[in-house]
Amino acid sequence: MISTFESVPAAAAPPALEAHGLVKTFGPIRAVDGVDLALDPGRIYGLLGPNGSGKTTLIRLLVGLARPTSGAASVLGRRVPSREMLARIGYMPQADGIYPELSVWENIRFFAGLYGSFDRERLLETLRVVELDDRVGTPVLQLSGGMRRRLSLACALVHRPPIVVLDEPTVGIDPALRVQFWAHFRSLSAAGATLLVSSHVMDEADRCDELLFIRAGRVIARGSGVELRRRAGTNDLEEAFLHFANGGTGGVA
Ligand SMILES: Nc1ncnc2c1ncn2[C@@H]1O[C@H](COP(=O)(O)OP(=O)(O)OP(=O)(O)O)[C@@H](O)[C@H]1O
Ligand SMILES: [Mg+2]
Repeated sequence: MISTFESVPAAAAPPALEAHGLVKTFGPIRAVDGVDLALDPGRIYGLLGPNGSGKTTLIRLLVGLARPTSGAASVLGRRVPSREMLARIGYMPQADGIYPELSVWENIRFFAGLYGSFDRERLLETLRVVELDDRVGTPVLQLSGGMRRRLSLACALVHRPPIVVLDEPTVGIDPALRVQFWAHFRSLSAAGATLLVSSHVMDEADRCDELLFIRAGRVIARGSGVELRRRAGTNDLEEAFLHFANGGTGGVA
């Protein structure tokens, strides 16, 4: 069926995240090898690919933390890097970006302060989401690995950014809290935020509205989990990934 939206000129909202011919090389390695994409606002996107496929590098280019070798990225229609856009992006790095010698409270206050927000209730509310509101005085050095991930997530979300980019946010998070995280991600998207969540495991993929399969720095397939399985002729998402990785048809529309 032809959507009526197709006849509307693309004058409305710009894509939440956009890439044009993005390339990033490290010496002989093409970590990101020509990525074009436009992600719509208000959706949850999953970036899936094996170790070393370029997920982290692509994410860093998209949010303006790394400079592309060639090509360009935009956030909400603004070319990055952009100081102004930083306040509109919540970025959770794969390696925790929090300060080990500071306490939970000092960390979240620091990150909130970067964006001019010191609302105590908002800080506490964000810590409640990650269940660290009872550890406010604990130095990060004394937190478990999973707790550090939780604090890192809280620091990425505390300024309530419309663009939320999370690099493997649920690694090391226990199953019960993982379910809560995803419920929270869903509520953020329902409120209009766009989420890009990377993972190298497929079991969370069906929680995303749309998936981007990435391999060797290229987006090899894009679509919902259901669509990608159907196009690959399998019920198993890992098999679907292998289908596209081996050059099977039906990947990038
Ligand atoms: N700073 C760097 N210097 C040199 N090579 C790099 C650098 N960062 C990434 N690479 C290389 O770029 C490629 C992509 O790495 P990247 O970290 O983007 O992969 P990834 O998909 O995030 O992997 P993982 O699932 O392990 O996190 C790898 O070959 C990696 O060795
Ligand atoms: Mg990575």
